[in-house]
Amino acid sequence: MTRPAKTKRPRSVRFTLDQQMKRRFQIRLLKWYDDHGRDLPWRRTLDPYKILVSEVMLQQTQVERVIPKYHEFLGKYPTLKDLAASEPDDVREAWYPLGYNIRPYRLHSIACETVTQYGGTLPREDEQLQSLKGIGRYTAGAVRTFAFNEDAPIVDTNVMRVLHRVFLGKGDPRKQKSTVWVMAEALIPKGKGYDFNQALMDFGASVCTARKPACPSCPMKTFCRTYPVEPH
Ligand code: ADE
Repeated sequence: MTRPAKTKRPRSVRFTLDQQMKRRFQIRLLKWYDDHGRDLPWRRTLDPYKILVSEVMLQQTQVERVIPKYHEFLGKYPTLKDLAASEPDDVREAWYPLGYNIRPYRLHSIACETVTQYGGTLPREDEQLQSLKGIGRYTAGAVRTFAFNEDAPIVDTNVMRVLHRVFLGKGDPRKQKSTVWVMAEALIPKGKGYDFNQALMDFGASVCTARKPACPSCPMKTFCRTYPVEPH
């Protein structure tokens, strides 16, 4: 039986996306990604299980620390069924030294639920993914876009910062989450969700960073609503 997805009632979102800004952002971001995108191991697979493992690891841990663990973990648990068949405490040990230790238990329980509910294959529909305990809106979006090539929005803290700075420029980002989710969906160029979302991740990690963003060399500086970010 599928549990209903936990869905929050969306706040009303009043926001009009400037179409010229949207096109410029799309073109410049994809060009930037062509030139600067990182070659990361989870970008060399479309296996939903491997994408899920990478995204759960990346939720709280830097890319550089995730890479070796990603390989090691998948060496030990190459498929979702292998993970489901293992002991939760062994999975936690295999997770070490990545912090935040609820994550391996969550991943293990997602694997078990996927085996019992879906025969061991992660579903591609948003509602079904989010019905798995431990998969929220972000992770469901990441699996849909990176494994199933759907144009699904994903908003993590990096994406939130980038879109808030470029398109909103004012107000408390924590109170504008619904708006940013709507924007993240509207901005995806049709059929290019994979590259666009990976690009947003890299752009937020290396140009539009939280501290000392690279505003002078930013391709969005001519229309960014926050440019230049004040040093703090
Ligand atoms: N952080 C979260 N997801 C990521 C991804 N797919 N690539 C790089 N950094 C990320």
